[in-house]
Amino acid sequence: MKVLILDNAEAAVRRAADIVARLVGDRPRCVLGLATGGTMLPLYDELGRRHVSDGLSFAQVATFNLDEYIGLPPDHACSYHTYMREAFFDRIDIDPARTHLPRGDADDPQAESLAYEARIADAGGIDLQVLGIGQNGHIGFNEPTSSLGSRTRIKTLTDDTRRANRRFFDTFDQTPRHAITMGIATILQSRACLLLATGAAKAEAVAGMVEGPLSAACPASALQLHADATAVLDRDAAAALTLVDYYETVHPGGRESVFDRT
Ligand code: GLP
Repeated sequence: MKVLILDNAEAAVRRAADIVARLVGDRPRCVLGLATGGTMLPLYDELGRRHVSDGLSFAQVATFNLDEYIGLPPDHACSYHTYMREAFFDRIDIDPARTHLPRGDADDPQAESLAYEARIADAGGIDLQVLGIGQNGHIGFNEPTSSLGSRTRIKTLTDDTRRANRRFFDTFDQTPRHAITMGIATILQSRACLLLATGAAKAEAVAGMVEGPLSAACPASALQLHADATAVLDRDAAAALTLVDYYETVHPGGRESVFDRT
């Protein structure tokens, strides 16, 4: 895994935006996998800013989000559909018909999960999957002990995750208990993965992901199996890593290694 450590969260967000923007610039018809959560908001701000000021165009890009809460229709204020429209899609030139999220209000969430997986395959697969990380090491909504071979399916959320996401809802009771999420194997099938983590609350999960054992106990550790996975971290999120000096030798200032394209 490439580990890029930036001095602060703003620099980490800009670095992650560089990676997304480079792909979109090189391959205007690329397929992006997208994530939600607080960490992603400044990334979408930055990409939206580059759309306005640098002419970065998403007109031909297709997107697939990782997950959606079961029970919430797309127009629900707390759905990930709404999050994506407000944080990103309404601020760029993307064709809404090319944006995809699982339907949380599907009558048959199991069938919706299978159909979502098929839609990703029909689009030719995901070129770059953007990821955040939960404090318990989850990616998407693949909670600890999720099968490393899992595909898009229904997951029951842990109380820890519900407490972390409670801030987006009025009460803990209203915070959804289930989600449709891409599986770990779905994520690993993306041609590249880019995980952005900022802040001290993510330090333990990041250490488990990068340096811990490959284990369903830390679902993000599955990225160790991916041949093209990049973690973009700020110093706080990198604080529990033991090999920081090594990562900084290979990627000084979070730049590509001398052997990579810059
Ligand atoms: C949710 C999302 C994840 C995200 C995580 C962390 O659980 N399903 O994709 O990575 O939140 O969110 P935050 O960035 O708010 O810490």
